Formats: sequence, C-alpha cells, structure tokens
Amino acid sequence: MADSFSNVIELPPDPLFGLKARFNLDKRADKVDLGIGAYRDNNGKPWILPAVKLAEEKLINDPNNNHEYLSISGFEPFLNNAAKVLLGSDSNQLSKVISQQSLSGTGALHLAGVFIKQFYKGNHTIYLSKPTWANHKQIFEYIGFKVENYPYWNNETKSLDLDGFLNSIKSAPNNSVFLLHACAHNPTGLDPTKNQWDLILKELEKKQHLIIFDSAYQGFASGDLEKDAYPIRKAINEEIISSPIIICQSFAKNVGMYGERVGAIHIIPSTKENNEAFNKAVKTQLNRIIRSEISNPPAYGSKIVATILQDSKLYDQWRKDLVTMSSRIIKMRKTLRSKLEELKTPGTWNHITDQTGMFSFTGLTPEMVARLEKSHGIYLVSSGRASVAGLNDNNVDKVAKAIDEVVKYYSKSKL
Ligand code: LMR
Repeated sequence: MADSFSNVIELPPDPLFGLKARFNLDKRADKVDLGIGAYRDNNGKPWILPAVKLAEEKLINDPNNNHEYLSISGFEPFLNNAAKVLLGSDSNQLSKVISQQSLSGTGALHLAGVFIKQFYKGNHTIYLSKPTWANHKQIFEYIGFKVENYPYWNNETKSLDLDGFLNSIKSAPNNSVFLLHACAHNPTGLDPTKNQWDLILKELEKKQHLIIFDSAYQGFASGDLEKDAYPIRKAINEEIISSPIIICQSFAKNVGMYGERVGAIHIIPSTKENNEAFNKAVKTQLNRIIRSEISNPPAYGSKIVATILQDSKLYDQWRKDLVTMSSRIIKMRKTLRSKLEELKTPGTWNHITDQTGMFSFTGLTPEMVARLEKSHGIYLVSSGRASVAGLNDNNVDKVAKAIDEVVKYYSKSKL
C-alpha cells in the first residue's frame, strides 16, 4: 500500500488567503492591500472598535468570568441578542427562532449545508449568485450539493440583472435552495433595491424555494442595522415563506472580531412547522452536528459581542462605530471615483460610489489586476474586487494613478 494516498493532489492557493500571503512577501514600502475584506483605519491599520475595547475591559473585570466550556448551543445571552439584531428587538419571531452558535459565517453556512443535506426533502441543488464570495461554492460542494448559479451582475450596465435573477428562480425545480446575500453583496457591492427585493422574495415563495440568507455585513452597507436587515425582515415578518428561513450571521466584520469566529445560524420555522416538537428536534440535531464537529463553540468572541449587545452604552457605541467604518468607506469611494474622473481614466466610474459595503467590483480585468500587483504593488482579487476599506488618505492618490495607468495601458494595446 505504498501509494495508498497517491490520489492526493496539490491544490492552488486559496484566492483570498493566497493573495494575502503574496502581499505579505512583497517588500515594497508603499504596497497597498485591497484584498481580503477586513476593515482598516485611515492609517491602514486594523481597528479595534471602541465598543469592543470597552467590552473587553468589562469582561476582564467581571468576577464571574471564567474559561469553562460553553453549552453545545453556545452562549445563550449572545444567541438571544444576536437574533434581536437580525430580526428586530420587538419581532414576534423571537419566540420561535432556533439559534445555534457557529464558527462565524463560514461555520454557519457549513452547518446549514449539513443540516439541509441530512433532512431537507426538497431539491439538493443550491443556487448561488454569479458572481459570489469565493468560498460559497466550495463550502456547499464539499458537503455534496450540486451548485448552480443565478445571474446577478450585468457587466455591461454594471447593475443588477434582475430579469436573469427572477428567471432562474422561476426555472429552478420547485423546493431548490437559494443563497442570498442579505446586504453589501460580496464581491459586487451591489444590493437589490427594496422593490427588487420584494419581487425576488415573492418569486422565491411562489416556487417554495428554501432560502439561506448570508448576513456577514449587517450595518456595514448603510451604517444602520435596521436598514441592512430589510430583506430578512421582509421575508420573515410577512410570512410569505412556506419553508423555514435560514440565516447565517457573522460578527467578524461588523464587530471587527475576525479571528474570534463569532457567528450563529438562526432558523425561523415556517408557519406549517412552527411547533415546539419541531423546534426541539431541529435544535437537538444542530447540537449533534456541532458536538461531532467542534464539540462546543468558542467562548471569548461571543462573550464580547453579548457584553456589547446587553449594555445600552456599549450598544450605542457600537452603532457609532458602524457609522465610523461605513462613512470612512463611503468617503474613500467618493475620493477614488473623483480622482479617476479627474485623470480621465477611460470608462465610467460612477459604480464605485453606487456600490455599497466593503467592496467595489471595479470592472478591472484579470490582466489589469495582475499589472496593478506587479508594477504598482496594489493587491486585489483577480475578479476586479477591491476592498475599499484598504484605501486611506495616504494611498488613494497612488491607487487612482495606478488604476489610470493600467486601464490606459490596456486600452492602448487594444487599438
Ligand atoms: C472576504 O471575502 O474577503 C472575506 O469574507 C474574508 C474571507 O474569509 O474570505
């Protein structure tokens, strides 16, 4: 059996973490990281939110704090308050929601996938937006889903392909699974309007598709937690949904705790299934998956988030922190756009300010992105997605000039 593992082949680096590794090796002092979506302050440094600092202090000084295991479901005060952030503190769904702490958004998506795969009687094909976050496809393929795409981004108009999106909802077999980005779509930064959401949700309901919301950026799009929860609350509160709704929630970005892996999965039973026995069954099955995969969830990040959510002063501070982050990003979008327009960079650049959240889908081609990296030390994903959070007053001029150079370079070579 000398070759019993000879089928193990080396894989290419992860598109996002591989980019980060290349960035770290680059010796140029003025290199710019517009790769992984992690907030940076105006000095290009990671930012510990003031709300988090206060919560950490409070937790350390709490004589009852300890390092015991959490329960398999996770930290109850975190789960209860995390559900309120999503659904609204006065939602009548709070008494019905089934919540389980997860390893951030990725863990929640994985848990959703395993649960659906084991129990869902519908169609095990999942529909992802085209394009979507690089990790979505492999999370679901790994669990054994068939993965399909629904049109989302119209490259010509740099806007939502609503007709394409609605047509794929209509033509997918009934009871398929649709993954929706709740807000601040990754990678395009393009969200449906309220009216478009209403149409999308209505079609999903007609076909009785199962919805998973990926909510990784609540508060990051508009700076307002309520506004950013629009599609989730619309779907749930109008009870237009005949299947349960699954929400995968991450606090990595909006609390700025990336490494602590704080997140949860919330399942809102449909009106058909809403009874105590169903809720208990789902809860115990989620517990079984967690117990066999990670035993029980990590405590620290969830205690910090719970501390913020339970203390009105810290909660207010957090809301201010969200505005600080989202408005700095909006300012950087405006600055980049106006600099490109001043430079008369070929093409239109209004999409940079029309888009929302952490990312801009710049429209730069993979060759342009490669040239930005090689000639200018500016790193972004080959799809042309730029993390606007990586821009600041010190580097935005350099970035605009470099984009101008590469766009003009490739426009000339086409002539
Ligand atoms: C991103 O898309 O850059 C982030 O969500 C980080 C990640 O885990 O990929």
